[in-house]
Amino acid sequence: MRILAIETSCDETAISIVEAMGDERAAEFKVLGNALLSQIELHKEYGGVFPALAKREHAKNLVPLLDAALEEAELLVEDTQAIPDETRAKIAAILAREPGLAEAFFDFVSECEPPAIDVIAVTAGPGLEPALWVGVNFAKALALAWEKPIVAINHMEGHIMAALATSKDDSSSRSNLEVKGVALPVLALLISGGHTELVVMKEWLEYELVGQTRDDAVGEAFDKVARMLGLPYPGGPEISRLAELARTEAVEVELLQEHARRSSTSTLPRPMINDGTCDFSFSGLKTAVLTLLKNRPEMSETEKKHIAREFEDAVAEVLWKKTARALKDSGAQTLVIGGGVSANTHIRRVFRENVASLVDIGYPQVRLRIPDASLTTDNAIMIALAGFYRALRDELSADFVAEGNRPLAV
Ligand code: KG4
Ligand code: ZN
Repeated sequence: MRILAIETSCDETAISIVEAMGDERAAEFKVLGNALLSQIELHKEYGGVFPALAKREHAKNLVPLLDAALEEAELLVEDTQAIPDETRAKIAAILAREPGLAEAFFDFVSECEPPAIDVIAVTAGPGLEPALWVGVNFAKALALAWEKPIVAINHMEGHIMAALATSKDDSSSRSNLEVKGVALPVLALLISGGHTELVVMKEWLEYELVGQTRDDAVGEAFDKVARMLGLPYPGGPEISRLAELARTEAVEVELLQEHARRSSTSTLPRPMINDGTCDFSFSGLKTAVLTLLKNRPEMSETEKKHIAREFEDAVAEVLWKKTARALKDSGAQTLVIGGGVSANTHIRRVFRENVASLVDIGYPQVRLRIPDASLTTDNAIMIALAGFYRALRDELSADFVAEGNRPLAV
């Protein structure tokens, strides 16, 4: 099955073409084409993703990315195509809300043959609704123009599939992936800019939400703390870079000593760590950093680094403790972490080390799968993977809407 996948849920516009073989128990994927454009540079000046700008950029970039992905996959056959008036009118109505997209769309599809793909997969949510709509409408328009079936994908399921996928033959290439021998139940820790969730997959593709954040998502906390430290958006990679530097130097930082004197603890709080649930809270941790920085407009580079480290330590410890609890409760045999924050070096290390020591204490063997760094942040390959499984189950329908809060577990 050849899948064309579209992702526009946030600030990445991405289109991939993936050839999938096998079935639910053992699947292989070959990435034929992968085109992605990050809008990070544009959103930087707003200190976060600005939805109206994201929507406009997606509309501008989708056709060039489609062209690039098809070209890379060698599926672009130039030829003049007549689009029946009725179809044209339907497509024009679908794309009416995306300025400029209809013109570019018609120019493109009237000059190439419908490509040899079997299904179109598109992220329907969760995400920024205006951004999601651009991808959804584009997918629906393509489905009409090319007479292809369409499948709506949950973005978080995409992150789970990306985490379950391993490189084939141990090659470091991410163009040959496989999802095989996954021992159920799977516990997934999904950490991104909008989500912090623990989800159990007891049966393949059936999810149960066992924990979630009660306030900020962890990526949001990274981004907000980064802003307090005067670091650019997105803050996750910046904090990670500074924190890693801090771990290599042993110095006493006055700000943190002050904090220790005031609060009788040398570290930042670990919110809800022992509350007996699998839920999270990060707003208190963020506030603790804010309190720490109060009346300190000037910070030295060393102070910044060590605050970044303290913050990251607190986050990683809470994430691990809650995950360990959910592992125990669920009896999961496979643990995955996915979403943009799973790119974090320290969090990856903490999880690897802790899972290794679970085996030492006789806990049933848990297999940890962490996505390849290139698949942690938003991309369309993960949407193609999820699209394969959903299409195998015949969940094909063009009758769906973009949903900012589309739930994974229903
Ligand atoms: O999954 P993602 O690309 O988009 C959403 O669906 O939200 O995640 C983006 C989030 C941002 O908050 C970003 O700061 C964070 O992931 N992030 C990181 C790292 N790389 C990206 N957070 C911590 N450490 C990183 N290395
Ligand atoms: Zn994401």
